[in-house]
Amino acid sequence: MSGTKTPPGPRGRFPLGNTLDYIRDPLGFLTRCAREYGDVVRLRLGVDTYYALNHPALVEEVLRARADAVIKDKLTRGLGPIVGQGLLTSEGAFWRRQRKLAQPAFQHQAIARYGEVMVEHALRLRAEWLDGRPRDVHEDMMRLTVGIVAKTLFNSEVAAEAEDIGRSLEVMMAYYLVPAKFLPFRERLPTRENREFRAAVRRVDEVIYGIIARRRAEGNDTGDLLSRLLAARDDEGSGMTDRQLRDECVTLFLAGHETTALTLTYAFHLLAHHPAAAGRLAAELDEVLAGRPPTAADVPDLAYTGWVVRESMRLYPPAWAIGRQAVEDMDVGGYRVRKGTQLIVSQWVLHRDPRWFDDPDAFLPERWDNDLVRRLPRGTYLPFGDGPRVCIGNHFAMMEAVLILATLAQQHRTAPAPGQVLELSPSITLRPKSGTRMVVHARQGAAPWTG
Ligand code: HEM
Repeated sequence: MSGTKTPPGPRGRFPLGNTLDYIRDPLGFLTRCAREYGDVVRLRLGVDTYYALNHPALVEEVLRARADAVIKDKLTRGLGPIVGQGLLTSEGAFWRRQRKLAQPAFQHQAIARYGEVMVEHALRLRAEWLDGRPRDVHEDMMRLTVGIVAKTLFNSEVAAEAEDIGRSLEVMMAYYLVPAKFLPFRERLPTRENREFRAAVRRVDEVIYGIIARRRAEGNDTGDLLSRLLAARDDEGSGMTDRQLRDECVTLFLAGHETTALTLTYAFHLLAHHPAAAGRLAAELDEVLAGRPPTAADVPDLAYTGWVVRESMRLYPPAWAIGRQAVEDMDVGGYRVRKGTQLIVSQWVLHRDPRWFDDPDAFLPERWDNDLVRRLPRGTYLPFGDGPRVCIGNHFAMMEAVLILATLAQQHRTAPAPGQVLELSPSITLRPKSGTRMVVHARQGAAPWTG
């Protein structure tokens, strides 16, 4: 039976609907809407109608069962000028082909070899963490994960260039994440930000096309992701063009470092405020690793470390909302969804829903014991999304987060820096608004490592 009802939602104000309430505090607003209006909430943001979906069954319907009836939402599509036709933004047959080509590079066996790079980079940062000194942990994690993507994606000799890409991408993202993006003809105005944006695009293209050309000329497999993408062939035996490779590389760079950096930043923040959890983590690391650095093979044994990562992503999901747009009229939860409607699935709201999580705002890594992931209804916990568009880097990211956390927490614990309060800035990702300064302390009694 096709739904005919229109879902309930907060009254908007002419002419902007609910836009101001949303912009002022997206996390609080969406949470209040869910608690007040239920599992499907109608909103008007800008000129668009949005339905926020707050029940796992509806989430699964849109992300999995009816994945063919939706495309990425307007905001994600707005990244097109940066990431082109990369995996994040492409659709239909083109996306399917690209996903199939890229998938083998992200399978378990393929990524296990990156563990060494991850730990090596984490050890270098660990050497900079001096006892009793404050650190901006977010800055540290961004530098660390950018270095890891640089090495695993492009290989070491071009790491400096790849870090340059990281900085240029920041400029490009900043350009797209301000309200001024709605101004007509903004791109044609002779402003400094336009010049900087164009320079950043040129720089990224120059570096990435340069790397692709070099690698094609050399023709050897250096074991990194780009080698795998270069070697990938579809069913007809054709590989990716330079343009496709460029778009995939920029996409992986963008999607592949900030999210993991945020996961770790929030994990260290939470541990700083929960000494008992930090103590249990340290005990596990001492027992499993006995002072030596971790390897990919240790990941299954570092259960509590994994729970800390999961619980951090539950409370502070780096991708805090997923957007879709209906491409045909459809029925969701008995409500009629017209073609063109924007759909929001917010991990922030779902992950803190008391129907699925006891004491939902509390940091309790042990809740993940006894395979909670499998006991939860599918669609309640989705830091990496779900369905055909699920994060291609999810195993890479989990392994990276566990190995980095293990390497650093093995010898250090974090404590809150005086006066530092965590404020959030939800844009495409859930960023901390201001610095995330923490004091790092060398752990007393940590098993020594002399390697
Ligand atoms: C903790 C870290 C990460 C989080 C929380 C995360 C989250 C997500 C989410 C929620 C999606 C789905 C978006 C949607 O359905 O619209 C996604 C997609 C994607 N992610 Fe991740 N991600 C992480 C790490 C990574 C890494 C390490 C890589 C690559 C090295 C990566 C590459 C991608 C790509 C390419 C897509 C698009 C996949 C497609 O549509 O086929 N991500 N990510």
